Amino acid sequence: MLSTAQKEQFIQQGYVVLDELFSLQSMHSLKQAAGKIVDDFDAESTRAVFSTQDQSKSRDDYFLSSGDKVRCFFEEDAFNAEGQLKQEKALSINKIGHALHVLEPVFKSFSHSDTISQLALDLGLQKPQIHQSMYIFKQPKIGGVIRWHQDASYFYSDPITVLTFWFAVEDATIQNGCLQVQADPETYPLIEQFKRYENDDTDLIKLNNKPWPKDDDAKPLEVKAGTLVVFNGLLPHFSAPNLSDKSRHAFTLHMTCATSKYAKENWLQAKPSPLY
Ligand code: FE2
Repeated sequence: MLSTAQKEQFIQQGYVVLDELFSLQSMHSLKQAAGKIVDDFDAESTRAVFSTQDQSKSRDDYFLSSGDKVRCFFEEDAFNAEGQLKQEKALSINKIGHALHVLEPVFKSFSHSDTISQLALDLGLQKPQIHQSMYIFKQPKIGGVIRWHQDASYFYSDPITVLTFWFAVEDATIQNGCLQVQADPETYPLIEQFKRYENDDTDLIKLNNKPWPKDDDAKPLEVKAGTLVVFNGLLPHFSAPNLSDKSRHAFTLHMTCATSKYAKENWLQAKPSPLY
């Protein structure tokens, strides 16, 4: 499926970009399925989660118990000071997570397709398994920043095997907050680890003092809809806020190799879904 050059690029740079690998039609079907979930979502049901009165604990519960569910999460800037949505519901959702690949048929068949399974094998996962799926909206004007991070901080395993599959459902540009990755090929150590304890407290632990790359040194991945970017768990990446009037929808999958030991401190402990 992948050329030798593509595999080498992945090994050396930590990511590979597969331009317009998927049809616009298949991206449109993901977008439609996500739109239906938002339509069916009762915005009042979780209003409290993001109200100014809310304690972070209940916000955490909504998040921490979502590993085997399909839940909508609001943009932080979605509400005004009175707790009312500033714009229609469909333009207020930050993301849907985290078990679309299990519970939603359109996402399930897409995520378990032969193409994706073969790519996971080609990129080194002997026994690929999906832990998480997210549909990210990056809404116009209010789509928030995602700071520098590494995905292995959230999907730690021994050895580290997590791969992120990032599908551009819509065109991604600098203006609408495209993915930006570490530009030089230096392999970073793991800088942070997000841990969930038995009492459901969480902590982001700093593992070393290595600084993140500078924003100006990042490589923006401006890609067309249908493009797949795959990157490894140690690749630092971020995305700037979307200040444009265009959304930047993306779908993501996080996979590990079943032969690696998935950490019991990872926040997401839902049963992984094997690709073979
Ligand atoms: Fe990430």
